[in-house]
Amino acid sequence: MNTPNLRTLTLEQKASLLSGRDFWSTKELDDAGIRSIVLTDGPHGIRRQAGETDHLGIHDSLPSTCLPPAVAVGSSWNTDIAARVGAAIGREGRAFGVAIALGPGVNIKRSPLCGRNFEYYSEDPLLSGVLGAAHVNAMQGQGTGASVKHFAANNQETERMRVSAEVDERTLREIYLPAFERVVKEANPATVMCSYNKVNGVYASENSWLLTSILRDEWGFGGAVVSDWGAVSNRVEGVKAGMDLEMPGSGGKTDQEIVDAVRSGDLSEELVDASVRRVVRLTEFAPEEQLTYDVEEHHALARELAAEGIVLLRNEKETLPLTAGQQIAVIGAFADAPRYQGGGSSHINPTRLDSPLEAIRDQALIMNSIVAYAPGFTVDGSGDEVALLEEAVSAASSADIAVVFVGLGDREESEGFDRDTLALPSTQVALLQAIAKAAPRTVVVLSNGGVVSLEGWHDNVDAIVEGWLLGQGGGHAMASVLFGLSNPSGHLAETIPFRLEDNPSYLNFPGEQGHVRYGEGVFVGYRYYESANVPVRYPFGYGLSYTHFSTTGLTVESNGVDGASVRVTVKNTGQRSGKHVIQLYVSTTTGPVRRPVRELRAFTKVELEAGEEQTVNFTLDRRGFAYWDVELGQWVVPPGDYSVQVGTDSSTVVAEEVIQLQGDFITRPLTMQSTVGDWFGHPVVGQVLMQGMATAMTQEQADQAEQNPDGLKMVESMPMHQFLAFTGSVFPLEVLESLMEQTRAQSSTQVVPA
Ligand code: BGC
Repeated sequence: MNTPNLRTLTLEQKASLLSGRDFWSTKELDDAGIRSIVLTDGPHGIRRQAGETDHLGIHDSLPSTCLPPAVAVGSSWNTDIAARVGAAIGREGRAFGVAIALGPGVNIKRSPLCGRNFEYYSEDPLLSGVLGAAHVNAMQGQGTGASVKHFAANNQETERMRVSAEVDERTLREIYLPAFERVVKEANPATVMCSYNKVNGVYASENSWLLTSILRDEWGFGGAVVSDWGAVSNRVEGVKAGMDLEMPGSGGKTDQEIVDAVRSGDLSEELVDASVRRVVRLTEFAPEEQLTYDVEEHHALARELAAEGIVLLRNEKETLPLTAGQQIAVIGAFADAPRYQGGGSSHINPTRLDSPLEAIRDQALIMNSIVAYAPGFTVDGSGDEVALLEEAVSAASSADIAVVFVGLGDREESEGFDRDTLALPSTQVALLQAIAKAAPRTVVVLSNGGVVSLEGWHDNVDAIVEGWLLGQGGGHAMASVLFGLSNPSGHLAETIPFRLEDNPSYLNFPGEQGHVRYGEGVFVGYRYYESANVPVRYPFGYGLSYTHFSTTGLTVESNGVDGASVRVTVKNTGQRSGKHVIQLYVSTTTGPVRRPVRELRAFTKVELEAGEEQTVNFTLDRRGFAYWDVELGQWVVPPGDYSVQVGTDSSTVVAEEVIQLQGDFITRPLTMQSTVGDWFGHPVVGQVLMQGMATAMTQEQADQAEQNPDGLKMVESMPMHQFLAFTGSVFPLEVLESLMEQTRAQSSTQVVPA
């Protein structure tokens, strides 16, 4: 479409384009040829409401495919899965007349308690960003625009509409922003959705540092920023900050505020024009023709994609896969009425819904196995739980194996609130303990959007399958993993700790009195557990398979300066084909800031037949070695040693190579507040000072210095002005001032790859 000539529009018309017409659509201006477009959720399927509207998933929507939510896609560690989810949503978006589908969510899982973790991929920014970019590219490839959300630092539901996330810049840059950055740079999303919360005291919807300096000026975002539904606090400040489209509409109230602000001179009309241009450009995503999609085909796809999100956590004595001729007691209400998606705005009215129980029965028939079923509990606790437990125990004791489906219900986790415990409901824990005693073998299947505690029963059961929330095809996918028709290949995208108290955000989550302090800094998830050596039940990256893999031949070639190429060979050493995730971590202690013990810097998933091997190449660019330097306001690769590690998870390194990088040549401007250590450590000035000191010292001072070689260490952290006050004129002030001047002159080119 042609960009309209804004000069033909009145200020009122322009302002009107910057907020929604209703809950899900923008305004049209027929005279100017500007169409209305539909924006709707969401992240794992199209929630198109035809009747009453809401953003909490209360009212119904038209049936569409409920694809695996992000929690399952994250555990797949497979960009192809993310892309196929995105493409299917894109196709359905076209079928429902949707221009922009609101997703994916790439917020970091800071605490396992966040009620919305099921909508996010991972505790790691690389994994989140790579999957998010794949989703967006594929979805937009089908013509439906994306809205990557919720920008930024929206990592909890408690007080989400007003809490201020207090996060230092290094932590934002290294943990909370990179997934957005990657999606913006690699996938060019139509829109970015700003979050409800404040970031360091300023609402995201009015935060020009986020929405303009970082998003547009630094990352080159060319699309429109849309508010989360109802996230606007001060509309005029929002326009100034770069927040283009307010959703839903405000009945004209905020449009008028924009008009008034322009008229009073408080808001520049150019900013309004810029926002209008960006909003109007979104009409390019308006579907020209209504396409159809094949409901059965998409259901089959939902099944296939779900299987890769399943993580096999424990499999003692090869309890799984189930074998032919077994008597199987399927227990647990979730087997019959699966929990397959989370509550809230992402809630889909599915076209079909697989029951795990039915899928197990179907497969059992083929394998001459017998299935008995007992619900064991009611999800809302409203039944006669004791009788249900007894009935389940009796079924388990007369079976060869019990497969117990436990998890969290909609009451336990959802958008809109956070959990306050990691524990499963107590009736389910009691059930698990009783079944583990009664059954010859016990398999536990978990359905949960956020991590649950495995303590109190873990050691008593033979196998544990983490099924997360898998979408409408999850029941079939689970049965195929249990019977070995699919080989599990999911890996944890988030750590399962022993105790909630072990989680690094524990003392600062969800904050208090309007503030949540991200006190753990960059030490989020495994970055903390590995660095502080805190044992966990299952580490980030962990996942078993029905086959085995070996890793050999790691070679790492540094480019000398700030990057490396990596090559590694993996082999399927087992008896059946399977998929393996190669996880590449970088570890270093060099540089002036504390680094996590290791950080994921690249990954890929490969499919290997039994006995097959494959050599895989990676390129690690400078970001793979860099930290964010708050003094310089830049990414810096400090010179030194870096260990490139292949891990089967974040705490198990199976191969490593150390390389040396020259890193960046850094000269920081010196002031009288800089410490003696800074002055002497400065690459140019340091030497000048050493020489100057040698010449200026009396024989007596030189003798003293020789007798006390640690003398410099004692004054190293002293600001130079205080040092001078103690020592008098070892360095004449004019000399220091001229040296300072030199360092300031160099300050525009502080970071130079050496
Ligand atoms: C959620 C968004 C969602 C929007 C529209 C909000 O409450 O935070 O993720 O896209 O509603 O439903």
